[in-house]
Amino acid sequence: MIQQSGSAFSKYGLVAAFLLVFSGALFAASNDKIFERIAPAGSVCMIGDSCAGGVSVASAGGAAGALDPEQTYNTYCVACHGTGANNSPVLGDAAAWQPRIDKGLDTLYSNAVNGFNNGAMPVKGLCMSCSDDDVKAAVDYILSSVQ
Ligand code: HEC
Repeated sequence: MIQQSGSAFSKYGLVAAFLLVFSGALFAASNDKIFERIAPAGSVCMIGDSCAGGVSVASAGGAAGALDPEQTYNTYCVACHGTGANNSPVLGDAAAWQPRIDKGLDTLYSNAVNGFNNGAMPVKGLCMSCSDDDVKAAVDYILSSVQ
């Protein structure tokens, strides 16, 4: 009994090893093709970020190349500004935003683009594919929730 299960195991082991090597070889052979195929999808993703789920730039009616501010917020900013993580001011929380609004819009723009408080508010809110204007538009979107 023990011996039988032992040999069954090694048989499966052999099959598994064969599959592993075989699929590895297959993968290596088709590697270039795979990279070729995913490259365009990756760049489309960078430009419009529509891969993150939904609204295309054209249907959002934005200027060419600009991201939809609501989508930028929902993809990047919401992680902190939707939850209050690290004491981030939350979307729609007028009391939290008012003292910041009092600093002036340019300060808010600049702190969002360049980061603020030793990176507690990270550069561009971690949206590295965002232009400065995309970040500013996301700030506008956040501020519109309290005005
Ligand atoms: C990793 C968490 C995090 C992400 C992601 C993030 N923020 Fe922030 N943000 C913060 C925190 C924390 C503060 C408060 C910093 C403080 O006052 O010390 C803040 C503050 C701000 C402020 C106010 C700055 C000021 O001068 O008072 C703006 C505007 C802002 N964020 C915009 C954005 C935008 C737009 C995005 C998305 C593109 C974003 N943030 C993404 C954490 C984040």
